[in-house]
Amino acid sequence: MRNNFKFAKSPSIWSEHLDLMQWPQLNQTPTQILIWCRRLVKAAYMFKGNKLWGGRFVGNTDPIMEKFNASIAYDQRMWDADIRGSKAYVKALEKAELVTTEEMNSILHGMEQISEEWAKGAFVVKPGDEDIHTANERRLKELIGEPAGKLHTGRSRNDQVVTDMRIWLCDAIATLKEDALQLVATMVERASVEIDVLFPGYTHMQRAQPIRWSHWILSHAVAVSRDVERLQEIRSRTNVLPLGSGAIAGTPFNIDRELLRKELEFDGISINSMDATGERDFVAEFLFWASLCLTHLSKMAEDLLLYSTKEFSFIALADAYSTGSSLMPQKKNADSLELIRSKAGRVLGRCAGFMMTIKGLPSSYNKDLQEDKEAMFDCFDTLHGALRVTTGVMSTLKINRPVMEAALSPDMLATDLAYYLVRKGLPFREAHGLSGRAVFQAESKNVPLNQLTVEDLAAISPLFDRDVAAVWDYSSSVEQYSAPGGTARSSVTAQVQHLRRWLQDHTQ
Ligand code: ARG
Repeated sequence: MRNNFKFAKSPSIWSEHLDLMQWPQLNQTPTQILIWCRRLVKAAYMFKGNKLWGGRFVGNTDPIMEKFNASIAYDQRMWDADIRGSKAYVKALEKAELVTTEEMNSILHGMEQISEEWAKGAFVVKPGDEDIHTANERRLKELIGEPAGKLHTGRSRNDQVVTDMRIWLCDAIATLKEDALQLVATMVERASVEIDVLFPGYTHMQRAQPIRWSHWILSHAVAVSRDVERLQEIRSRTNVLPLGSGAIAGTPFNIDRELLRKELEFDGISINSMDATGERDFVAEFLFWASLCLTHLSKMAEDLLLYSTKEFSFIALADAYSTGSSLMPQKKNADSLELIRSKAGRVLGRCAGFMMTIKGLPSSYNKDLQEDKEAMFDCFDTLHGALRVTTGVMSTLKINRPVMEAALSPDMLATDLAYYLVRKGLPFREAHGLSGRAVFQAESKNVPLNQLTVEDLAAISPLFDRDVAAVWDYSSSVEQYSAPGGTARSSVTAQVQHLRRWLQDHTQ
């Protein structure tokens, strides 16, 4: 049957078809007849299409659709996972006696050759290679011929793609874990070295209480350590084998899924074939993770950006992580930190976008799921970059200790003044009010809080005595916070030790 759409859209096929209507004449030379026969074969091929799924199709895909449909441009990143998956699968096929040992070895050998081609950058992607799965299978056929056609027995790209993704993501998770551990280690060592530096702690971006600089560093290190733990939890749910689920219903052949699990080093086997091919929870979880981890890095970057301004001058970034202005020669911009901050938006966008894609899907595999890969790759690349740049920034920035300590001001000890009264037996709520009155009085007299005389203070509460002078000391102020988690030297040292042990436990 003629396909009118095809004729309307594809004049070259139409004209070739017309030629074929003219049967060879008796007076034609054998060469002319041969040319005619070759065109007949070519036309038949075109009508069939050159797709792996081409059997029930007539004619070629519209080139625009071809491009729209293809994922090879980005999913070729999974070439290694795809080959590993196929090598394991052919072993299961051999065990099920669906391929002979000879055919298996031929497929394994072919796959190794393909692997070398990818590794050397010599693999040639051809038009019609829709995705990494079709590209590798097409190449296998070129290399080993017929047995290649047996590799996909009982397998679908639906279970193949999700197997590849899980293998790829487990490797990616290992890399990101390494990156994050590096960052935590860098921060912990810096915190240990600079433990004696005090500076203002801010809440609501207002001066709150004196803290140790190391306390600030560790506050961010602890958040990244939780990210590492979360990453490990995600890995346990990612490292589950979907292969053997087929397109939706499972595999009708005697495919040993336990063999596949062992070969591919998965921790478990998916329970339901329909779920296994149609769910992307592991991708969503990875995107949640990436969003949260970058939110942590962004928060830290924002603090550092503020501290690096001329107005604060607490820190100076190394030139290696700064850039200049094309117009203002004096500028040294903390672009590294701004980029880290901005990437949080990018990754959150990827996450939200993918959730939008899957939220309305029916069950099982739908092509919408092809969107999963770019989101996953992009979040990996972004996190891999951001974590390493953060490590670079944190290991090279210089602190300006005199400026940091000079930024401490007596008003930040108003809480300590209240605690002084608490220690003399006053309920905190009352002490808070009296300390507030002292702050008011200092502001009225236009003097710093520590310049109020004992008489001034005694007029506010008779509990104030000469020993109040001891309150106005930043070092002893931070030393009060010695309970676990506080900013006293002993407590920060304990945090350093805790994280060092934690690092040991999480580094194989
Ligand atoms: N390239 C596809 C993807 O990334 C592979 C699976 C295609 N499956 C199918 N039934 N068309 O999702």
